[in-house]
Amino acid sequence: MRLKARRRLPKMVFDYLEGGAGSERGLARNREALDKILFNPCRLTPVEKRDTSVSLFGKTYSMPLAIAPTGLNGVLWPDGDLVLARAAARYNIPFCLSTASTSTIEEVGRAGDGEKWFQLYVLHREQARLFARRALDAGYTTLILTVDVAVNGRRERDLRSGFKVPFRISPKIAADAVLHPRWTVSQLAHGLPELANFASAEATDASSQAALMNRQMDAGFDWLAFAELRDLWPHKLLIKGLISAEDVILAEKARADGVILSNHGGRQLEDLPAPIDILLRAKAMTSLPLLLDSGVRSGCDIIKALAAGASMALSGRAVLYGLAAAGEAGVREVLDLLISEIDTTLALVGCASADALCPDFLHS
Ligand SMILES: Cc1cc2nc3c(=O)[nH]c(=O)nc-3n(C[C@H](O)[C@H](O)[C@H](O)COP(=O)(O)O)c2cc1C
Repeated sequence: MRLKARRRLPKMVFDYLEGGAGSERGLARNREALDKILFNPCRLTPVEKRDTSVSLFGKTYSMPLAIAPTGLNGVLWPDGDLVLARAAARYNIPFCLSTASTSTIEEVGRAGDGEKWFQLYVLHREQARLFARRALDAGYTTLILTVDVAVNGRRERDLRSGFKVPFRISPKIAADAVLHPRWTVSQLAHGLPELANFASAEATDASSQAALMNRQMDAGFDWLAFAELRDLWPHKLLIKGLISAEDVILAEKARADGVILSNHGGRQLEDLPAPIDILLRAKAMTSLPLLLDSGVRSGCDIIKALAAGASMALSGRAVLYGLAAAGEAGVREVLDLLISEIDTTLALVGCASADALCPDFLHS
């Protein structure tokens, strides 16, 4: 799927999807950390009937996976957010819509009857309140506050290619587009994507929407601001982007309902631990549900995360490769692969149910 995505997308767009911050050491570390974990299987346990489902916050999902919030999905495939939301509903897994989405909170709220979570950046209070209110009215059940983007990370591939919304058509970008006609035709046919949630009377085109979003980012957002958000959001509230066990304790004190341990898929600060490497320690220090992303590429990775104490994993790029390669069919192929790998791995480690995974299944 990754190779198919690379073939269909212009290099500049593939680099946006794939790239990490700085020299991409973080990107590599996320994979190494998951790869080095080995299983400690339990043999001669009956596994003829297996259950890949998990429960979280009183709901049961078909597998321990949510689609991570990712911005600009419409650049990968027309109406990318709607495609992902519908696929997630079909598979009964949560879909997280990004603040920087290319369909609006309301459009995605109406797409399919699946579980929808809304991701909020650390925005100025008035804007944060407005988006939280819109998500509430549109039926989102969970709010995710992403806290590792006080400012954007330095993604050197994007800095080099000039990737930003709206595209400025340079000769290099035009040549890239001509070499990838399937992508170019689909984008032209649907109109270039915009930051839909920021579209308004004063921000009618993509460049003023991008400027508005940047102006709204609040690098001064702190635990006090979080407390305000906590008071106004009545449902589950997760913090995404913690990568230290001490911060997880603060999150629990601040009445978060859960934490997504994440280094943003290596896209923000490259020299951070992989979330899987701090999971066991964080788990020992909190009773909050811990979710995890960054580097997850297979069902086997998801089983490792659960065995180490995660309640669920999130996938960014793995699912986006499917979206960029073949739209909904591609997303479904990726989700089919993941659920089948989860099932096979459960059988091979000797655990009949994803909910029963524990550190005993990991080689120490
Ligand atoms: C193309 C792309 C766009 C992203 N946009 C957002 C975003 O808008 N908000 C957010 O909280 N995280 C964003 N992320 C981070 C993901 O939510 C997630 O943390 C990360 O992709 C997990 O790593 P993985 O790609 O290795 O699965 C983005 C990731 C990618 C790859």
